[in-house]
Amino acid sequence: MRTRWFVVVLGTAMVGLAAYVALDVVRRPSLDERLGEIVTAHGLAPLDAGAEQPEALLALGEALFFDRELSGNRDIACATCHHPSLASGDGLPVSIGTGGTGLGPDRVLGEGRPLIPRNAPDVWNRGAEEWMTMFWDGRVAGSAAHGFTSPAREALPDGLPNVLAVQAMFPVTSDAEMRGFPGDVDVTGAPNELAVLAPDDFTGIWAALMDRLLAIPEYVDLFEAAFPDVAIEELGFEHAATAIGAFEAHLFAADATPWDAYLGGDLGALTDEAKRGAVLFFGDAGCAACHSGTLLTDQQHHNVASPQVGPGKGAESPDDMGRARETGSTADMYAFRTPPLRNVVVNGPWFHDGAYTTLEAAVRHMLDPEAALAEYDPSQLPESMRIVYDAPERIATVLDYLDARLTPRPLDDDESADLVAFLEALTDPRVDEIADRVPDQVPSGLPVDR
Ligand code: HEC
Ligand code: HEC
Repeated sequence: MRTRWFVVVLGTAMVGLAAYVALDVVRRPSLDERLGEIVTAHGLAPLDAGAEQPEALLALGEALFFDRELSGNRDIACATCHHPSLASGDGLPVSIGTGGTGLGPDRVLGEGRPLIPRNAPDVWNRGAEEWMTMFWDGRVAGSAAHGFTSPAREALPDGLPNVLAVQAMFPVTSDAEMRGFPGDVDVTGAPNELAVLAPDDFTGIWAALMDRLLAIPEYVDLFEAAFPDVAIEELGFEHAATAIGAFEAHLFAADATPWDAYLGGDLGALTDEAKRGAVLFFGDAGCAACHSGTLLTDQQHHNVASPQVGPGKGAESPDDMGRARETGSTADMYAFRTPPLRNVVVNGPWFHDGAYTTLEAAVRHMLDPEAALAEYDPSQLPESMRIVYDAPERIATVLDYLDARLTPRPLDDDESADLVAFLEALTDPRVDEIADRVPDQVPSGLPVDR
């Protein structure tokens, strides 16, 4: 009797143990476990926005970034199109350059002036070491170690520290953005000496700008403090660009996001919704095929069948061939560089031409580009920019070259909301804090956009 009782107890215990083991094997991994596997598989780490910069370099960079003295007509600064109160952009589908008035969505095109071909991208985290490309078509690229490619080719001066500084050499050379057109006079009525130079005379344009800056005693002091080892007569616009880049990297650092905190080990930093969104982003929704790595961009160019808004670029206007304009390769037709996604919630309007004015619509496009292109609704654009090039032959070519990674991904409403929750978790709360980081005055004494 006692032995039978013992056998029953032992038998029950063994069944229980077996059930426990079986249950544990089929137990669904937790959200954090699933996301942890993704983080490991994709080699994701918290973003490092770049090294702190010397104070004197930042002071010079700040002055230059906000100073309209850098534009031929003395009427527009870098900050006009990359403003701290506008999430480092200008809030417009495509930008309005020299001759325009006002800031942000209220900015008005000057009479007889062209619209800028593309959307002013955000400049968050462009000081991060991983960055190797600049512009929607990657026409500035490279690194100090391996050399740079740029529209200036061999005219690009030596000594530029990174691709962000190289980029800062070019807005001042663009006639429509900052330099102005032959015959222009500046805001005081003085002739615009930058505009009469040939568009490809990069060296001449940069030298003329340095003459302007060094005629202002405060700039002489700022340059001397920032570059104590460089004699005044040795200074070139590459020094100005180096300072501008350092300042952009500093002001527009955005690495304190919930996503970065999560990657740093704080599992409570994300909501469950955002975690599910991340699993989709790196999994079934296929986003990380292009928005990959720490910066959430492969820095490659893809044709995602974007609607074409604005004046277009170059000889193909009103079309914009994107990367193919740089490479001449049909494989790059309509390809634009994958945008990074930190602070994407506030970076609208979205895409290379600001075609989408809500983030939800931008995400919907990525989930089914062909359908989104067919259904594109231009009424979301400001009336003055409702210029959409949707000729059937363009659409046909776009779809012929559509990136093969972009197969339709039907998500239900909950899944779409999760995906957007993940994108929201890429927001650095300092976005609001820097909105009023605008200097009271700049060395030229010209007005500052605020
Ligand atoms: C008229 C508006 C305007 C002005 C002024 C302007 N930009 Fe831009 N910026 C743009 C547009 C538009 C683009 C994208 C052009 C393209 O990709 O073809 C851009 C691109 C950039 C990028 C590239 C970001 C990336 O990741 O590709 C940086 C950085 C930048 N600008 C910084 C500056 C600096 C520094 C200045 C002043 C020296 C400046 N911008 C002046 C509109 C402007
Ligand atoms: C084939 C590569 C590729 C895939 C896959 C992809 N994207 Fe993109 N994404 C891009 C490119 C390229 C652009 C810019 C298109 C343009 O400017 O015309 C873009 C633009 C965006 C934008 C607008 C960003 C901005 O600053 O303007 C968002 C948001 C976005 N993608 C989210 C997603 C999401 C979410 C997914 C997954 C559902 C996804 N993308 C899948 C390449 C890709």
